[in-house]
Amino acid sequence: MKAIRKCLFPAAGFGTRFLPVTKAMPKEMLPIVTKPLIQYGVEEAMQAGISGMAVVTGRGKRAIEDHFDVSYELDQQIAGSEKEDLLSDTREIMSRCTFSYIRQGEIRGLGHAILTGEPLIGDELFAVILADDYCVAEGDSVLAQMVHLYEEYQCSIIAIEEVPQEESFRYGIIEGETQDESVYRISNLVEKPAPTDAPSNLAIVGRYILTPDIFDIIRNTAPGRNGEVQITDALQSQAAQGKVIGYRFEGRRFDCGSVSGFIDATNYTYNKQNPQ
Ligand code: UTP
Repeated sequence: MKAIRKCLFPAAGFGTRFLPVTKAMPKEMLPIVTKPLIQYGVEEAMQAGISGMAVVTGRGKRAIEDHFDVSYELDQQIAGSEKEDLLSDTREIMSRCTFSYIRQGEIRGLGHAILTGEPLIGDELFAVILADDYCVAEGDSVLAQMVHLYEEYQCSIIAIEEVPQEESFRYGIIEGETQDESVYRISNLVEKPAPTDAPSNLAIVGRYILTPDIFDIIRNTAPGRNGEVQITDALQSQAAQGKVIGYRFEGRRFDCGSVSGFIDATNYTYNKQNPQ
């Protein structure tokens, strides 16, 4: 059985919906209470047994690298105080994981960002987390649930959730056949269809397990919607061979790429940490 050792975090986007805060700060560093979005993503990957974190960055994203690195002055400043506890999670991440980075020179779409990560992944099965889709689950993390499913299906797995049909234009939408109540064998994927053209109300969420043949497929995928290379279009080739499974995960997703989703996630997390 192939183990999934690496998780790719495409994080090169400009986060324009959060301007001006994203002018000089990566969207992935926006805090949900006191932890940046990307740290939740890394913790989710760790819960799925992954320790190799590969990040696709770009200009203005240095804070991500600094976050997962030692800060000697800070460590010295708080040594011996009760504030040390506040850094215990990041210290554990740094002791258990490796981080590698590559820059996407031009923003040419999520498919292109994933292809940019190829040198960090190599020819092996890998996971992808879009940190701005913040996922919470009571038991296993969403990615851990997907890893279990991979053991059964041995092909690409993508997370899906039901969305109101009128919002289909915001998402990649799937068409597929039910395998059981939460598992679909995908036959078709459409990027951001108008509600009248959407083949279902099942939307792709930012969690993927991808087989490495996806890199060659992306290389041969023409730019699609908005002139960007879409991962949805590349997955279509695998889906045509019955090799993409859609999984309705257990848990909840917050779209932290939008201001309202980010505020909802913040309130949810704060209330969870501070029950009345
Ligand atoms: P989004 O389109 O949601 O992110 O891409 P964005 O472009 O940063 O946000 P807005 O629309 O301007 O506010 C989804 C994810 O894919 C990454 C983004 O960083 C984000 O995590 N991405 C997208 C890349 O890394 N490279 C790309 O070329 C496109």
